[in-house]
Amino acid sequence: MEETLVDRIRAEIGERGPISFARFMERALTEPGLGYYMGPRARAGREGDFITAPEMHGILGSALARLIAHTWERLDRPEPFRYPEYGAGSGALVCAIVDQLVRDASPLLEALEIQPIEINANRREELTAALRDRALRRPMNIVPVDATPIAGVVVANEYLDALPFHIFVGRAATAHGLAERRVGVNAHGALEWVEAPLNESEAERVRQRFGAPLAEGQRAEACFAADAWPRELTQRISHGLAVVIDYGREGAELRDPTIRAAGTALAYQGHRATDNLLADPGGRDLTAHVDLTALRAAATASGLTPIASTSQAALIAGAGLDDEIERIRRGPEATLEGAIALRSALARLMNPRSLGGFAVELFGLGSAEHVSRLSDASNPLPGAAAPIRPLV
Ligand SMILES: C[S@@+](CC[C@H](N)C(=O)[O-])C[C@H]1O[C@@H](n2cnc3c(N)ncnc32)[C@H](O)[C@@H]1O
Repeated sequence: MEETLVDRIRAEIGERGPISFARFMERALTEPGLGYYMGPRARAGREGDFITAPEMHGILGSALARLIAHTWERLDRPEPFRYPEYGAGSGALVCAIVDQLVRDASPLLEALEIQPIEINANRREELTAALRDRALRRPMNIVPVDATPIAGVVVANEYLDALPFHIFVGRAATAHGLAERRVGVNAHGALEWVEAPLNESEAERVRQRFGAPLAEGQRAEACFAADAWPRELTQRISHGLAVVIDYGREGAELRDPTIRAAGTALAYQGHRATDNLLADPGGRDLTAHVDLTALRAAATASGLTPIASTSQAALIAGAGLDDEIERIRRGPEATLEGAIALRSALARLMNPRSLGGFAVELFGLGSAEHVSRLSDASNPLPGAAAPIRPLV
C-alpha cells in the first residue's frame, strides 16, 4: 500500500518525538507530492476549499493596477519594473492587474515583468498560460525567483496566513507560564496534541512576541517563519512597494483572552472551517490570522518602512475605480451577468465583516528618498489613505 502523509508524519514523530505544529503544518501543506498545496487540484476558487478576492472578481486587481501604476510614476517610470507575487496561484490577480493596465492603455505594460513566487508547479504553468493567452502587444516577461532585484511592487494576497506557525498555551504551573502544543501519536497510532515545556531561549522568544502572558488554557499562534519574510523581499525588489493583504489583526487583539481564548488557527475544507487541525493532513488548508504588529516589527528590522495600514474595503474604495465600475455596469460591453457579479463581489469585498475587513499593509523599500515619494501624507498613493480599520 502507498505511504500516506500521516504515515510519514507518524514515522517522523516515532524517530524524533512530538513535533511542533509548525513542522506538522509544513508537511501538511507543502510535502512534495502529498501536501495540500502541492497537487494538481486548485485549492482557491468556487470549486475549491475557500474563495479569495482575486478568484471572486477582478476588481481587487483593478485597484492594485492603479496603485502599482502610481508607484511606477512616482519612482520616475523605471524600466523594467518588476511585479513579484507571493502565492500567485494560477494567476487570477496578476491577470486582473494586466487586464486593467490594458484597459487604461498604461505605458507601464511595456515595462512590467512578472515574478511569480508559487510553490505549486501546476499553478505556475496555469499562470504562465493565462498570461500567454492575453492579446498583449508584447508577450509578458516572466522572470525566475532568483532574478537580480530591481524596482517594483511586491504583492502577497493570502500568503502569510499559510506560513507554518507554532501554537502555545498558557499554563501557570509550568516554569515559564507557557507550554507548546506539539503533535504526537497516541497508543492507537492516531495523531494527538501533546503539551511540551519550553526551554529558556524558546520561552524568551515567545515572551518577546506575546508581550503579555497568556491566561490559563488560552491558546495563541506565533508565526516565526513570517519574521524572515520582509528581508526576503529585499532580494525581490531593490526599491518600491510591498503590499500585504490578509486576514490579520494587531498582536494584542489576537491574544485578547476575552475574545480569542482559543487562538485563530483553523482548517478549511470545502468552504467549511473547523478547529480540528490534526485531521486529514494534506487534505485541508491550515491557517491563522497574521500578527500585524509582528509583521511591522520584522519589516522595520529588515529596513522596510511601514507606509499605510488600511483595509481591503478602503483600498478598493480609494483606488479611483469609478470609471471601471461604470464601465462594468453601463459601458458598451456591459452585461447583466457582469453587473450582478460585480455587485455580489463588492457586497463581500466592501463589507468590513467579510473580505473588506482584511488588512492591507503597505511597506516602502529602498532609500529614504524612494520611500518619501511613496509615503507623502498630503498625496497618498491610491487606496493608501483612509485607514478604515477592520471591525472583526
Ligand atoms: C491561500 S492561497 C492564495 C492564492 C492567491 N494569492 C489568491 O489570493 O487567490 C495560497 C497560495 O500560496 C501558495 N503557497 C503556499 N505556500 C507557499 C510557499 N511556501 N511558497 C510559495 N507559495 C506558497 C499556494 O500554493 C497557494 O497558491
